[in-house]
Amino acid sequence: MQQCQGYIEENKDRFLEELKELLRIPSVSADPSKKQAMIQAADFIRQQLEKAGADGAKLCEIDGHPIVYAEKIIDPALPTVLVYGHYDVQPPDPLDLWDSPPFEPVIKDNKIYARGACDDKGQMYMHVKAFEAMMKTESLACNVKFMIEGEEEVGSEGLGPFLEDNKEMLAADVVLVSDTSIIANDIPSITSGLRGIAYLQVELTGPNKDLHSGTFGGAVANPINVLCKMIASLTDENNHITIPQFYEDVLELSAEERKAMNQAPFDLEAYKEMLGIEDVYGEAGYNTVERASIRPTLDCNGIWGGYTGEGAKTVLPSKAYAKISMRLVPNQDPHKIAGLFQKYFEDICPKGVKVSVNPFHGGQPYVTPTDDKGYQAAKAAMEKSFGKVPLPAKAGGSIPIVALFEQTLGLKTILMGFGLNTDQIHSPNEHYGLFNFYKGIETIPYFYEEFAKLHA
Ligand code: BES
Ligand code: MN
Ligand code: MN
Repeated sequence: MQQCQGYIEENKDRFLEELKELLRIPSVSADPSKKQAMIQAADFIRQQLEKAGADGAKLCEIDGHPIVYAEKIIDPALPTVLVYGHYDVQPPDPLDLWDSPPFEPVIKDNKIYARGACDDKGQMYMHVKAFEAMMKTESLACNVKFMIEGEEEVGSEGLGPFLEDNKEMLAADVVLVSDTSIIANDIPSITSGLRGIAYLQVELTGPNKDLHSGTFGGAVANPINVLCKMIASLTDENNHITIPQFYEDVLELSAEERKAMNQAPFDLEAYKEMLGIEDVYGEAGYNTVERASIRPTLDCNGIWGGYTGEGAKTVLPSKAYAKISMRLVPNQDPHKIAGLFQKYFEDICPKGVKVSVNPFHGGQPYVTPTDDKGYQAAKAAMEKSFGKVPLPAKAGGSIPIVALFEQTLGLKTILMGFGLNTDQIHSPNEHYGLFNFYKGIETIPYFYEEFAKLHA
């Protein structure tokens, strides 16, 4: 193990150069014009895995961007770790808010800045390099399989069927993922839960054409006005969601559980300062950490219609649109919630406009059992590398495929992420700390070592 850590130390500059190369590839899964870049990024990872000593490294064609698969089976008697990550990234927009171009990585203040630096290229690549270090120093303690996808940021729709079709190839003892955060660089944590998601787009149609807002305004429903009222009515004065039966399946945490999760340090003043807000906002009866992890939410992600160009144009638009997401907690089901939303949104739509609701994608919430061997291995590994026992912490984000690992492959997922909530993922100036990148590479071999030990 010492040799492995020595190898990492000796090669750290090259690891970073390679990550930069990967970050230069604009693999935006949502953008149809980036199909070539997607293949390029996938192939870069495939090649790196092969060079590191993996067998059968290949791109698997699915309905969507390809999946990178590779494996190293050193001894069938040893446990197998299935590493999951994603090489696709979110669109970099709005471009003018970036201090440097999103696909030209730069290092500033010991952080690497680029789209995907943290989510998830930087975190996923830690696994590729830790694998290389273990292979080159003959210290790989478990069998390993890599499954790196290119559709996470658009809902991982093609991955479900891929799991169904490849159960044998993907057979393993645990799934290991680095695509979440720690509380702080000196407060390590392991993500103990993810929220689910239901994402929909709504379209309102008023008159059959755009109209003069003087000639017709006041006499004909304006779909933008109506849409704003409808969205506003989805939450009440306590910021509770008003959709009937929305909370029906929500698992309330016990007083002890809430107390335990609130033991983790949280600095509200620093939080407000980071976001440039005077006060926080959210559901009555819950604090900020709870609102962003154990409670369901409803957010409008985008809204448009009418005239949005320079200057003023007097128009009563024919159409208005919005994209709406709901974050879900155990035991809410995204299909059921999407159905409840659709019914309610149709019910509250006044005559004079037509509404159409289109679900985009969904994902189930997930809870990591902290008594699982995988969790214990991650805890021991992080304790070794950070010199501190990591705390369990629930995340507000979603990784839709994680619940399917359990349903389809019967595998628990260990969310051993190394990002920070301040890394600006999905935002302009996304970055990843070099400390975090290297700490991840250092920790991963310990995970394999500990996981093998617990299985012996
Ligand atoms: N890595 C994130 C999820 C995440 C971030 C979890 C931080 C915990 C902490 C992932 O790439 C992501 O952005 N997921 C999407 C899923 C959606 C597109 C279905 C999300 O949460 O919005
Ligand atoms: Mn991610
Ligand atoms: Mn993401």
